[in-house]
Amino acid sequence: MSRTIIVSNRLPTKVQRTADGLTFHPSEGGLATGLGSIYQADGNVWVGWPGTFVDDPAEHEQVTERLRENSMAPVFLTEPEIRDYYEGFSNGTLWPTFHYFPQFATYDSSHWQAYVAVNEKFCQAVLAQTGPDDTIWVHDYQLLLLPEMLRRERPEATIGFFLHIPFPSYELVRVLPWGADLLRGMLGADLIGFHTYGYMRHFLSAASHLLGLSNQNGLVETGTRTVLVDAFPMGIDYQRYAEAADSEAAQAHQLHYREALKDVRVILSIDRLDYTKGIAQRVLAFEQLLVRHPEWCGHVSLLMVVVPSRDQVAQYAALKEEIDELVGRINARHSSISWTPIHYFYRSFPFDELVAFYTLADVALVTPVRDGMNLVAKEFIASKTDQRGVLILSERAGAAVELSDALLINPTDTDYMAEAMHEALRMPEEEQTTRMANLQALVRQYDVFAWTRLFMERLAYSKMKQQTLATDALSPGAIDQLLHDYQAAPHRLLLLDYDGTLVSFQANPQHARPDAELLELLGALTSDARNRVVIISGRDRATLDQWLGHLPLNFVAEHGVWLRRAGEDWQLFQELRADWKRELRPMLELYVRRTAGSFIEDKDYSLVWHYRRADAELGAIRARDLMSHLTFITSNTDLQVLEGNKILEIKNVGINKGTAAARWLSPDPPEFILAIGDDRTDEDTFGALPPEAYTVKVGGAPRSLARYSVAGPADVRQLLRRLC
Ligand code: UDP
Ligand code: G6P
Repeated sequence: MSRTIIVSNRLPTKVQRTADGLTFHPSEGGLATGLGSIYQADGNVWVGWPGTFVDDPAEHEQVTERLRENSMAPVFLTEPEIRDYYEGFSNGTLWPTFHYFPQFATYDSSHWQAYVAVNEKFCQAVLAQTGPDDTIWVHDYQLLLLPEMLRRERPEATIGFFLHIPFPSYELVRVLPWGADLLRGMLGADLIGFHTYGYMRHFLSAASHLLGLSNQNGLVETGTRTVLVDAFPMGIDYQRYAEAADSEAAQAHQLHYREALKDVRVILSIDRLDYTKGIAQRVLAFEQLLVRHPEWCGHVSLLMVVVPSRDQVAQYAALKEEIDELVGRINARHSSISWTPIHYFYRSFPFDELVAFYTLADVALVTPVRDGMNLVAKEFIASKTDQRGVLILSERAGAAVELSDALLINPTDTDYMAEAMHEALRMPEEEQTTRMANLQALVRQYDVFAWTRLFMERLAYSKMKQQTLATDALSPGAIDQLLHDYQAAPHRLLLLDYDGTLVSFQANPQHARPDAELLELLGALTSDARNRVVIISGRDRATLDQWLGHLPLNFVAEHGVWLRRAGEDWQLFQELRADWKRELRPMLELYVRRTAGSFIEDKDYSLVWHYRRADAELGAIRARDLMSHLTFITSNTDLQVLEGNKILEIKNVGINKGTAAARWLSPDPPEFILAIGDDRTDEDTFGALPPEAYTVKVGGAPRSLARYSVAGPADVRQLLRRLC
């Protein structure tokens, strides 16, 4: 049976050390509470950290056994790992950066090393639980490297990844020295999910800027695989809250609180202690309410639950002091004998009591300065079975995208927040009901079960897409067959593209000179009399001559304009004209002026616009624009526009690598043909060859006519070395 292995840093159960020994409690935080309802179906297992340092082997066993009964498998972390991986990199570097608090972020390479090592530790723990048919679902920022680590061990595995916090603008990601590694780690998954389209867009932009990977409709081509990126706003277990709200237990708690509060109205605030939650601003806004509308003094209290969290991280400890001090000052200033402005709890509450708070409250004040989603807002809505009550919600919580019937506020505008409270407290019941009914319909429909279903459906779609688009990776088996055919053939033809195939791309094309290793490799291949080696390139003649002309190679230059057989002179493929260049050049110059970093290459019979050095997104937009211009202008001419890797090239029709490649198939047809190339222009080569030819696509979009694919120039060289 196929199961889902859920992986997150924190398990939904946390172990605590008390005077009576180890105790087990539900974990706080949106990830654990949100998924806690669903994971136990179908033999699923949840792999994660049990939340405390456990050293003693007997205790290890006790914890493992107890968790196994509830379908969990613990990953024990040592004290240094908790300090450097959890408090250090996860919560001291990633959390502040991804929530737009770069001023709080630390950049410590020992924390990074611990992060890599603990992700590896999780990888081994997951592999130990996972069968070949199982789906692995990795969660959140503590495990960004895990998908790629798992992929390395299990290339065929089905791996989903979901980020529960915001994904920030590329400008923030580039601040991290390890930004590119983190993106590559995530791209090991088959599906990467975010709460909102905004986060998804930021991720795609970062992948484009930092890794040079473009996407189409959220499908990112990594070079070896297609990865789907999509938005899935997480929901809650609606029924559980709605049923609990009407339960005897919650109602008894509510009655008890109501007796204590008398007829004082309640504004509710519930969060983990976190600087992203805007707790201090919220308290100040509540004071503003009392100052601006003193009629509420004695009649409204703020009931504020702050759940202890990450208190070993310096910023959290400082925030705790700030809130304590603020609440103390406000209560001291505004209290009366019979009324306390702020009821402040620094602890967590059991489920029934939380639900009683939700049902009791007139207003929920959910005002984070940044929040990936915020489930408290949704839990409040689900618990309001009488449809009374008002949600005030920060427009910077992911939940605001869906919950537009809440009163949306800017969490840094304390005056406006105070007015929103005033408005909420006076909102007519009819309006409360209308808004709440709309909110409930939405939260009920898109609950956590619907969220999981959708995620799994899209994961299956991603796998299906990969299968339909992919050329087969050049497997060890295929290589053996290739070597066998090569050895057996008396005449062999090797058609090798240069840039992106034999060497990696450079920002400046003139820097992509052949290195000693490559020269030696080509020397060895050409020294075998059975081999005819053709460099089939878009480069101009002069560059090929200068870089490789001393070797007994054959050449195709300018994508088929010029041919040179080893030891002979260059010849034109056919008579061509170049007078059109004068006319079209000004148009390309306009695009160079409009696209910083782009430039024109002028070859004998073609013009090329290069945009590799331009901003990736702008370059892609301008290329589309220029392409449609050029297609229009050249429609009734004998010119064509070729799209290469970050280039557009204009040249005469009928000239391409395919027609040039065909020249080498006669008069003595080779028994073995190997063609390797990386971009669209090489597709013409692949298309021109007989079906038994070994055609190999390097990196880029896997949609190719080639039979096989490899990741990059390093794999190409390794293959060629085996031929020598
Ligand atoms: N929560 C809890 N015990 C408490 C207070 C809160 O379990 O005493 C839960 C709350 O029900 C919610 C989660 O903690 O499900 C907080 O999730 P949210 O998405 O709002 O914020 P996060 O903590 O994930 O940043
Ligand atoms: C947020 C994160 C979770 C995390 C939770 C509690 O919801 O997205 O990954 O588990 O906060 O934080 P903690 O550090 O206590 O696990």
